[in-house]
Amino acid sequence: MLKLRITMIDSTRKETIVRQRYAAGAKERADKLCCPVDYESEYLKAIPQEVIERDYGCGDPSRDVREAETVLDLGSGTGKICFIAAQIVGPKGKVIGVDMTDEMLDVARRNAPIVTEGIGYANVEFRKGRIQDLALDLELLDRRLKESPITDAASFLAADELAEELRVKHPLIASDSIDVVVSNCVLNLVEPKSKRILFQEIFRVLKKGGRAVVSDIVSDEEVSEEMQNDPELWSGCISGALTEEGFLAAFESAGFYGIQILKRDVDPWRTVQGIEFRSVTIEAFKGKQGECFERNQAVIYRGPFKEVLDDDNHRMERGRRYAVCDKTYNLYKKAPYREFFEFVDPIVDLPLNEAKPFDCSRTSLRHPKETKGRDYNATTEANNKCCDGGSCA
Ligand SMILES: C[S@@+](CC[C@H](N)C(=O)[O-])C[C@H]1O[C@@H](n2cnc3c(N)ncnc32)[C@H](O)[C@@H]1O
Repeated sequence: MLKLRITMIDSTRKETIVRQRYAAGAKERADKLCCPVDYESEYLKAIPQEVIERDYGCGDPSRDVREAETVLDLGSGTGKICFIAAQIVGPKGKVIGVDMTDEMLDVARRNAPIVTEGIGYANVEFRKGRIQDLALDLELLDRRLKESPITDAASFLAADELAEELRVKHPLIASDSIDVVVSNCVLNLVEPKSKRILFQEIFRVLKKGGRAVVSDIVSDEEVSEEMQNDPELWSGCISGALTEEGFLAAFESAGFYGIQILKRDVDPWRTVQGIEFRSVTIEAFKGKQGECFERNQAVIYRGPFKEVLDDDNHRMERGRRYAVCDKTYNLYKKAPYREFFEFVDPIVDLPLNEAKPFDCSRTSLRHPKETKGRDYNATTEANNKCCDGGSCA
């Protein structure tokens, strides 16, 4: 059983401890930081051993990346997930890795040309930044501070203003620019006071319709402050973990929808003082924000549950026909919902530019007469499509 170390960290120094630990981990493999993960072996062939052995991930979010996408990897380390994603997105896609530790960036950048040679195209770049502040380009700030170093309080305040200007004029990652944000075992390392803004930043940089796929360590119980202040446990991806529910709730609070657990390890990676720490991979979508219009569309929840509640608080019972706005209708037609619904289009299409606002705060049923039109009074012959092969008539 692990005995807690007596050394404690001042809660304001967590980031420095993390940077120091991963600077060392970039130079030499740190076994204690490794959580075994099965990556797709075909993608590892093009990746140098130095990168593979300094793998400090706990899952594989690259499995959910698709061809031609623009991918952002938060806390990219030596670059393994970026180099895998580079092969999946192909030459039409692009991968950006962000990390705050120079030594990690050095290893990743040194190996990028080797991967390029192996796969035949260059579509990966690594940028220096803090993932809770994805607008601030730390290398650009470094360069500007060399020209005007901080020497006193006045120059410190000027540097603060400069950072704000750089965020606006030259953002490290622009808003609405990324198809999929991935991250592997990093979010837990962000200090508690910055966790909320971290999730907001992920949301900001994603395009509407984009998604986050994040593997991280979560705990099954709240982690005590004493454990959080243990430098070894904090920087070792343990005591900064959010609880399983807190992790999903953080995405929800930032405005994501369709949040789901893609993978949850049954066995904990580690157990400390009775608290289990395990890897999960979750997916969350951006794009439910926007205006709601009435186009007489309806959806039917197929089951198997008796009822479901969506992220806008629409409660739908299995088998019943619900009125939805055009935005919800189109969201449900895509992942992660489409397999759970039947879609009912109105017989007469109402163009979007003629549609009236729809009150999305309520949940209401859609009478079939609304779908067909009040004057609909057709009588038809039997539909051949009902019979196998359409040959029974
Ligand atoms: C556990 S390692 C994971 C590295 C990589 N994702 C992998 O799968 O091997 C954590 C990485 O995140 C970086 N990191 C930690 N906190 C960060 C922050 N706030 N901003 C940017 N990078 C951070 C560290 O420098 C380190 O490279």
